[in-house]
Amino acid sequence: MIGRSMLLQMANSKKLEAFVRGNRVSSRSASRFVAGETIQSITGPVRDLNNQGISVSLDHLGESVTTKEEVAETVAIYLSLFRHISADKLNANVSLKLTALGLDIDVQLCYDNMVRILTSAGSEQFVRIDMEGSAYTQSTLDLFYRLWRDGGHRNVGVVIQSYLRRSEQDIEDLIAAGARVRLCKGAYKEPDELAFPDKADVDASYIRLMKRLLSDGVYPGIATHDPAMISATREYAASEEIAPDRFEFQMLFGIRRDLQSKLVRDGYGMRVYVPFGTHWYPYLMRRLAERPSNLWFVVKNVLRAR
Ligand code: FDA
Repeated sequence: MIGRSMLLQMANSKKLEAFVRGNRVSSRSASRFVAGETIQSITGPVRDLNNQGISVSLDHLGESVTTKEEVAETVAIYLSLFRHISADKLNANVSLKLTALGLDIDVQLCYDNMVRILTSAGSEQFVRIDMEGSAYTQSTLDLFYRLWRDGGHRNVGVVIQSYLRRSEQDIEDLIAAGARVRLCKGAYKEPDELAFPDKADVDASYIRLMKRLLSDGVYPGIATHDPAMISATREYAASEEIAPDRFEFQMLFGIRRDLQSKLVRDGYGMRVYVPFGTHWYPYLMRRLAERPSNLWFVVKNVLRAR
């Protein structure tokens, strides 16, 4: 039986990536979670979401990049993405991963790239730095604070994962700084010393951190598909008289569309994270790991293609 842990391990395999990416059927399966391969191909899906009252965060897929050439390509894509968002009048901001911008190569290179991206984004557009595995938590936060404090950039926010034991303190620090936070459970394979191994503890931590962010944070993004987390958020906001425009719910493209529409109908802000690009393999594997029954969806596509 393939479980979460094995799927997350497979997400790091370059050999499997080459095989899966070259396979027509798995490419078709990825399209359930990935909006398209090029910037041009995402306009349609983003417009559809915007027309339903849903805003978007666009992510160019790519992570763990090891060459300066690939990093430069990623920067160029983000710069043209901002032009595309303005020209097509899309209701969208962007998300990115620091390892796609050179964090593993040279921290200064990564910082300079972020400065270019944030400067090009201007005050109109917001950039969310995704949180990667725990090997990058501190370096991601360090770089974020450097941009926030030393660079004075205000169009940038970070992500905190409720499965990490350290997150309670990180949330307090980010609230004190006045920074915008997206809260999620966390999608990587982590050791028990760093992350709660049991779902009940991850969920309890999520609810604690959500309450802190709703009470004292700046426009938090409550990123989850879990009906229990969503109900807890709605109940806490109602009991504390926190208006729906002081936070937003966030979900991933292609997941729980029914819940996305319901939250919009109920008057809440809803943003969908829309990934695009050709480097979809690790992203797809993390989505399968969150719900191994998604594997059936891939298997069904394989059977249909025979
Ligand atoms: P949980 O995993 O408990 O799932 C609750 C329910 O949601 C499931 O029972 C199922 O119905 C549905 N569901 C969840 N995942 C599904 C899937 N893949 N397919 C089908 N149904 C699914 N992580 C991270 O480490 N760093 C980051 O920067 C981000 N960024 C991010 C942005 C946004 C907008 C979202 C929504 C999520 C992230 N994540 C992330 C991923 C996050 O950490 C987490 O892995 C997933 O959101 C799944 O957790 P849930 O909160 O949905 O709960």
